Amino acid sequence: MKKIIDQENLNQKKVLLRLDLNVPLKNGSITDETRINKIIPVINFLIQKKSKILVISHVGRPKGKFNKDLSLKPICENIEKKIDKKIILIKEDIFNLKKEDLFENPSDQIIFLENIRFYEGEEKNDIYFAKHLAELADLYVNDAFSCSHRAHASICKVTNFIPSYAGLQLETEINALKKITTEIKKPITCIIGGSKISTKIGIIKNLIPNFNNIVIVGGMANNILSYKGYSVGKSLKEQNCDSIVRDIFETAKKYSCSIFFPKDVLVGKSVEDKSEVKELNEITNDDLILDIGPKTILEIKNIIDKSQTVLWNGPAGYFENPNFANGSIEIAKTIIKKNKANLIYSVAGGGDTVAILNQIKAVKDFNFVSTAGGAFLEYLEGKKLPGIKALN
Ligand code: 3PG
Repeated sequence: MKKIIDQENLNQKKVLLRLDLNVPLKNGSITDETRINKIIPVINFLIQKKSKILVISHVGRPKGKFNKDLSLKPICENIEKKIDKKIILIKEDIFNLKKEDLFENPSDQIIFLENIRFYEGEEKNDIYFAKHLAELADLYVNDAFSCSHRAHASICKVTNFIPSYAGLQLETEINALKKITTEIKKPITCIIGGSKISTKIGIIKNLIPNFNNIVIVGGMANNILSYKGYSVGKSLKEQNCDSIVRDIFETAKKYSCSIFFPKDVLVGKSVEDKSEVKELNEITNDDLILDIGPKTILEIKNIIDKSQTVLWNGPAGYFENPNFANGSIEIAKTIIKKNKANLIYSVAGGGDTVAILNQIKAVKDFNFVSTAGGAFLEYLEGKKLPGIKALN
């Protein structure tokens, strides 16, 4: 894998820089800036080298269509302030752009293209779309480890057409995860939560051989509860997952891995509601499961207490509403306590998990915090990430 940091002649070179600026947005405001802060070094590095920087990123899942709520505008404004340099956001259709028209004004140094997922070709890993992107620059840099598990045009196919390099943050993340996976101490516990059920549920089975305990919370736990015969009301749930869940339990038995899922929950009638503790057999059709309950928290604390390594990805509940943030905060606090006493090695990953740690000012209390969620889990699974493969 060639690294951009080792490249000498970057002066005036047009660099297509793939970043993951998929930050949480609420009413157009950024609620957690971690992913932005992590890519400032690569931008500063390229500025210092006098490169012309053409940034591409996605936000959210607009599914190939323009969506004004998922514009990169607030993110550009935020970065502009951080680096104290003008950024041009090009809203024009990418297919109308030509390399020679970009950076026409000699003082222009940073251009952002609009959300790359506004284009169907991106998620389809379309060869023509990738070729067109490549034709806009002299070289390509992937500094988006957290979306390198996606076989998308601006992450994978683009590398077929242009000299391609690893960015600074990508390298840091890979080195840290390599170290973690080779020096890990048992018993190991993996806590998996969050709302991206379809991304993660299939991964759990493959994680089982490497872990002693897997704790399933957040949206994914609803699929487990439903498989176990409990009503989950109108909670988030993925369709047709029963055979995956059955496989998870059968594989866990084979490898003597213990699977934990909620014993009790906090529900509301909407995400804005106050919380109510419920036993699993008390959930009604109009309930939304939005956090884990006190018995579950206690059980997770016991598991963490008996672990030497804890990897955590995905919140236990809808932490955006403080009434449903307690599960995630208690998990974080338990890990931190053990970490401060040097009793465990702890790693957290994923945009939302990092947002919780920022809320309680605890990022530095973990041994390593990855900006990646899905990519982090797929790396732990032992998979070769398509974006990394493409760079190799
Ligand atoms: C993430 O937030 O994990 C990455 O930006 C990838 O987003 P995705 O799950 O929508 O592909």
